[in-house]
Amino acid sequence: MLNIVLFGPPGAGKGTQAVFLKDEFNLIHLSTGDLLRSQIAAKTELGNEAKRFMDKGELVPDEVVIGMIGSQLKENASAKGFIFDGFPRTVEQAKALDQLLNENGTPVSGMLALEVEKQELIDRLLERGKTSGRSDDTDVSIIENRIAVYNQKTAPLMNYYEAQSKYYPVNGMGSVEDIALRLKMLVEKL
Ligand code: AP5
Ligand code: MG
Repeated sequence: MLNIVLFGPPGAGKGTQAVFLKDEFNLIHLSTGDLLRSQIAAKTELGNEAKRFMDKGELVPDEVVIGMIGSQLKENASAKGFIFDGFPRTVEQAKALDQLLNENGTPVSGMLALEVEKQELIDRLLERGKTSGRSDDTDVSIIENRIAVYNQKTAPLMNYYEAQSKYYPVNGMGSVEDIALRLKMLVEKL
């Protein structure tokens, strides 16, 4: 079983690259951002609560996203493996993921961390904001806050996975195809 944590700051290309990896290796793609946005679209209580955090570029509480991932793992019990996109984002979430996966005896195989310069992140997100309808993509100060939250709360996870010898930095600059190839070559060696 292959369990990949696809990691990187907002706009690094996690969602874009997950689509290639999922097809190439026959994995289930789990994006907490996408799961939360579908709750918002369905106007559920969870969605309304999450929106208050997402609109500001703040993290949704750990227990909410951990609960969502737990139920997705149960629903897809026969999967060949998973790509976790945008999860975990805090040390608490990483510990919870380890616990959930260890219950099945299938730990995280590797954490692939896309590295992209800050100005490129901002340019990509503002460009997408012209059409995405995502409230967190249109305002530079909210984008800056998402990046600051990443640096403060999420980036430390690189050390968490490094300590388990599971941290693989990947150059996330360049064409989508070139980056997909870099990731594929790494995953083949996991
Ligand atoms: P989430 O949906 O996860 O957003 P994010 O991580 O902030 O960033 P994106 O999804 O926007 O970036 P991405 O890396 O997927 O890049 P993409 O491929 O889309 O989270 C949103 C919010 O939900 C959070 O702020 C938080 O509130 C909440 N949340 C989610 N998960 C949570 C968790 N675990 N805990 C707590 N809260 C959570 O690419 C971006 C753009 O760039 C696209 O337009 C794409 O076409 C373009 N692009 C991609 N690759 C390239 C390239 N190589 N060259 C040029 N353009 C490119
Ligand atoms: Mg994404």
